[in-house]
Amino acid sequence: MAKNGAPSMQCPRSPDDVDLFGPGAPERWYAAYDVLHQQAPVMCLRGEGLTPDKDAFILSKHEDISRVVKDWERFPPTLSLLVKQIQTTGALAQEMPGLDAMIISICSLRPTQELWRAHRQELTDPWVGPGAGRHEDMITGHVDHLIDRWIDEGDLDFVRQFARSLPQRTMASVLGFPMEDIPQLETWGNAQVMAYVHGCGHNNKLTEEQTREKSELLDGFGHYVRQKTKEKRADPKDDMISFLTQVHYEALDRKLTDDEINGVVYAMLIGGLETTQYALAEQAQLICERPGLFQKLKQDRSLIRIFIEEGMRLRSPTQGLSTRITSQDEIFQGVEVPAGSSLHLRWAAANIDPDEFEDAKELKLDRKAVTRHLAFSAGLRVCPGAGLSRLEQTIAWNRLLDRLDDIAYGEDNDFLHQPGIMLGTLKLNLTFTKA
Ligand code: HEM
Repeated sequence: MAKNGAPSMQCPRSPDDVDLFGPGAPERWYAAYDVLHQQAPVMCLRGEGLTPDKDAFILSKHEDISRVVKDWERFPPTLSLLVKQIQTTGALAQEMPGLDAMIISICSLRPTQELWRAHRQELTDPWVGPGAGRHEDMITGHVDHLIDRWIDEGDLDFVRQFARSLPQRTMASVLGFPMEDIPQLETWGNAQVMAYVHGCGHNNKLTEEQTREKSELLDGFGHYVRQKTKEKRADPKDDMISFLTQVHYEALDRKLTDDEINGVVYAMLIGGLETTQYALAEQAQLICERPGLFQKLKQDRSLIRIFIEEGMRLRSPTQGLSTRITSQDEIFQGVEVPAGSSLHLRWAAANIDPDEFEDAKELKLDRKAVTRHLAFSAGLRVCPGAGLSRLEQTIAWNRLLDRLDDIAYGEDNDFLHQPGIMLGTLKLNLTFTKA
């Protein structure tokens, strides 16, 4: 991503130069996607499959990734191998080493496609999916609270003082955690996403030492959630954990155990914090880079919806994930991909695929079918928190447009990103005029 002040990095010109995962890779991602689209839309990572005799393939075309995410039978989640192992050996997920609470709860609450759907519809949709609208007042309150803290200053680090805090406060409220626990929740959240930031290669592998560090950092998280669950089971309030303690899960015809609730909460935190932060921070940059855009949005608020979708399309927070395998031999763009290969789905590349999007790299406020992008994936495994994130982004920009007259880049921005597979701008100094 070439931006004012960004250090010059060697741009990839051929597939041999493309490295999406090494040090400094985030600064070259978007140059790499052009190379992949033109010269290697299906790129083999030799011997990087689940075992050394298997390969992994990076898919970068919208049509290929859409096909994969919509066909669970041919492209099952990598996790389904673990579920199968558990079902055939009778092993207990909670006794297997290295599995986090979310994965353990997936094994019991949603091991099949049908249960995956039921889990979303019955357990998460009412809180973070289509039912997220219930949080409108709460989110508006958090947005205003954050703006109040710097509105008289004239400048801010938008990442630290707004984009990071908003999803933290929102998720704490949704789950029913007190605001004063946010610093602790941040530490646990950082530990949960450690693989996506510091992990190695396309499948974000942590070293043994990093894995140890992660579990030490997460020490206490399970205890904290179980304690809160116990309190809310005894005295339910209007929050998601209270709901999970009371709900009768129709698909399994029973209530959830404390361990299962712990797993759902883990999933909400790992998914719901940084992703929305990155979306907001990239949208602020898109505004700063386009004179007149702030005023245009301020005058016509109906454009906000298109703006946030275009923002997530052009600068996708989750750039890619290796979460599917091939159950049979496949051909993508003429390239043979054998059964048992890992697929790295590069959402961010698919979202600027010129064969799918006209003027793919332009932010177009008159784009049709604006949610066609794959920033949240699609199909049965589509991000369950998309509704909540969209609401946070919409309210954030509405209130920022109400309370400010403009924003611009401040000083000392280097536009560098964290390592890993998320598009995480480290800091973003902005100046602004109070409305
Ligand atoms: C801009 C914000 C977000 C982006 C770009 C995003 C993106 C994604 C993507 C690409 C996936 C992978 C789906 C697949 O493998 O097909 C995913 C899964 C997931 N997301 Fe999000 N997400 C965002 C916000 C959220 C929020 C706010 C939550 C929670 C409230 C959340 C919770 C999850 C969970 C739990 C999963 C794992 C799948 C599942 O358990 O059903 N995400 N997300």
